[in-house]
Amino acid sequence: QSLQSFHTFSLPSQCQHFYQIDEVNQLLSTDFSGPFCILGEGSNTVFLSDYQGSVIHMNTKGIDIEQQSDGFLLHIAAGENWHQLVAMTIANDMPGLENLALIPGTVGAAPVQNIGAYGVELEKFMSYVEYFDIATKTIKRLTKGECQFGYRDSIFKHALKNKAVITQVGLLLPKKWQPLLSYGPLQQLSEPSPQQVFEQIITTRNSKLPNPSELANAGSFFKNPVISNEQLALLLKQYPELPHYFVDAEHHKVAAGWLIEQAGLKGFKVAGIEVHQQQALVLVNHGNSTGDDLIAMVKHVQQQVWHKYQIALQHEVRLINAEHECHIELGAS
Ligand code: EPU
Repeated sequence: QSLQSFHTFSLPSQCQHFYQIDEVNQLLSTDFSGPFCILGEGSNTVFLSDYQGSVIHMNTKGIDIEQQSDGFLLHIAAGENWHQLVAMTIANDMPGLENLALIPGTVGAAPVQNIGAYGVELEKFMSYVEYFDIATKTIKRLTKGECQFGYRDSIFKHALKNKAVITQVGLLLPKKWQPLLSYGPLQQLSEPSPQQVFEQIITTRNSKLPNPSELANAGSFFKNPVISNEQLALLLKQYPELPHYFVDAEHHKVAAGWLIEQAGLKGFKVAGIEVHQQQALVLVNHGNSTGDDLIAMVKHVQQQVWHKYQIALQHEVRLINAEHECHIELGAS
């Protein structure tokens, strides 16, 4: 089975087995004994080469809305499209998710990396995550606290990695709505409706982020690095414009897109892979490229950023080689 149309970065790739899961109980008869990779819409996963394992494509559907006294509790099947869910909530007077409009991918994938944009992270609305426990073949439920959410991080990347298939997500949207307008382009809105915030987010994203159905990409390719306050102070002396955000008393996060742009890499190409002209944190694939080209690109960006700022960039996108997920890091060959 070709995977090219199942991951939005669209490198050519084949897998050995492909399971499409339309009903949760199909997981009972799925073979998890060899290497496997769980996939939603493939917007944050890149297959670097042919994959010697099984791809499990989560395509379950269904949204139940439970009205509570102070909010709406939504029970959403993993295979639902994230943006369609956001649009449905806005159209039905259940605001809250508007800042997260137009994020590619499925609902089941969203908790894995705690999707976030424009000042809001998914965890803010999380009630629970239900998953199929591969070892016991039973459904288990985690509360929000048990999910160990962090910046683009959760338990599903650590203790539950390769042990769980997320099947359902519970989101709680409080009836009392407060817009979150701290992010640049939202500040110009005065007393906006949820619909107006939703539309502003869509306009902003469309102006910077390439649509994967028109130009292959996997969103932000690198994480915004978290650095110590000491390192930030040194960098700010040299680069007073460096965008930075408070993390905790000792750390700040800096904008990787800015670092990459200022390192002169916008438009840099390896074969058909390019550092995007409108947003340097995004890599795009114009076609005729391989996993090796992408690896060369990632290493080049990491080396240039290290050389200029002594910051080690980590890729945010999940990279899968022939056997398993891999991490490309500075210093590693
Ligand atoms: N910037 C540049 N040059 C660039 C890109 C960015 O100077 O080429 C500057 C911007 O001007 C701004 C700052 O860097 O001052 C931050 O840029 P932006 O607001 O575009 O956001 P980001 O930090 O690059 C993060 C998320 C995005 C999310 C946006 C908006 C990560 C890894 N990425 O990007 O998420 O949409 O904030 O909140 O945290 C994704 O994860 O796939 C994703 C797109």
